[in-house]
Amino acid sequence: MKNKKEYNIGLIGYGLMGKMHSNAYATVGNFFDLEHQPVLKAVCGRNKDKLQKFANQWGYHSTETDWRILIERDDIDAIDICTPNNSHAEIAIAAAKAGKAILCEKPLALNVAEGEEMVKCIEDAGVPNTVWYNYRRTPAVTLAKQLIDEGRLGKIFHYRSNFLQDWTISEDLPQGGAGLWRLDSNEAGSGVIGDLLAHCIDTAMWLNGSIENVSAMTETFIKERVHQGTNKVESVKIDDACSFLCRFANGSLGNFESTRYARGHKALFTFEINGENASIRWDLHDLHRLEYFDYRDESILRGWRSIHVSDADMPYMDKWWIPGTQIGYEHTFVHHVADYFINLAEGKPTNPTFADALETQKVCQAVIGSANNEAWKLTGAKQFK
Ligand SMILES: NC(=O)c1ccc[n+]([C@@H]2O[C@H](COP(=O)([O-])OP(=O)(O)OC[C@H]3O[C@@H](n4cnc5c(N)ncnc54)[C@H](O)[C@@H]3O)[C@@H](O)[C@H]2O)c1
Repeated sequence: MKNKKEYNIGLIGYGLMGKMHSNAYATVGNFFDLEHQPVLKAVCGRNKDKLQKFANQWGYHSTETDWRILIERDDIDAIDICTPNNSHAEIAIAAAKAGKAILCEKPLALNVAEGEEMVKCIEDAGVPNTVWYNYRRTPAVTLAKQLIDEGRLGKIFHYRSNFLQDWTISEDLPQGGAGLWRLDSNEAGSGVIGDLLAHCIDTAMWLNGSIENVSAMTETFIKERVHQGTNKVESVKIDDACSFLCRFANGSLGNFESTRYARGHKALFTFEINGENASIRWDLHDLHRLEYFDYRDESILRGWRSIHVSDADMPYMDKWWIPGTQIGYEHTFVHHVADYFINLAEGKPTNPTFADALETQKVCQAVIGSANNEAWKLTGAKQFK
């Protein structure tokens, strides 16, 4: 660690993302040659015993049970927000006012109004900021961006993306609280739209430019669930599933679908992009591969090729093992931290910034708004005899 500038992290929330980010901070300096060394200075959570166990496991120097105290500490450089969505705005705004850098989990906020206030506070404070839309930093997805930017696909006509899961099909699953805040609209803001489609939208706008308009439908298949907080049956206000169509500013058409009711799928995040000359597709279940079809190939050899994104000349891969061997989901977070520190050293922003994530929030909100105002045309069609 000699000659490196120590950079003290204050992490809030020690659930799935708390663990993921801690791993990224602990790992990054072993693989990337950075000016800074992240230090796991303090972790914050509300349950003292569980918090201490987490701190011991990951080597955090100290703990806090109130995030407000963490934010006021002089020995913290950056606040990392790994709490449910309804707390992002309050924590980020307080952290910005205290002059801390902020790394915030996605979605940025519960809605656009909250997001706008966050962006204003961040910009007024002038602090470094980024939002953990991590999938951009999957080497195969970054390679897709490179191929698109090089113009290999030509004019783009279609963008389609899915994020399919199957974990909320049981009626017995409660809503709210530990592990299940995603089913409570007060904590999550929305269902699959903010949780899953937000990732698809961030990746899509990064790869294919801005989304201009949307037409959406949503469904809540299970309308009531016991709430873990009250122990009462309460109505479910999140979207269980959502499909939307859109137009991108570049003239291409988009088709997005997400659900937690697709039996057999755990986290099937996919995208396929069809251009004039070539198409590409990617699948999180096979995240180290990028599939590519080029119409300009000799016709007798033309076909989809499956690129194993593991060679040293492919994005991020020179930092890891040897060609032919793979890395995984957790590495996308390591790459995000690495880029954060590379940019910090050069005084540059790390994308997606809060301002970028606000654009994604605007699309999410438009999707919700469109679904609430469904304009359906009755077909008049009858059941086949
Ligand atoms: N980038 C990704 O791929 C990705 C994946 C999963 C989750 N997320 C996002 O990360 C955030 C957290 O999700 P998760 O899956 O880690 O949730 P989680 O339920 O596993 O963990 C949330 C943690 O926050 C803590 N917490 C809640 N309120 C708190 C408070 N007031 N003070 C301190 N701690 C508090 C909880 O006790 C828990 O430890 C969400 O915004 C989610 O959308 C992003």
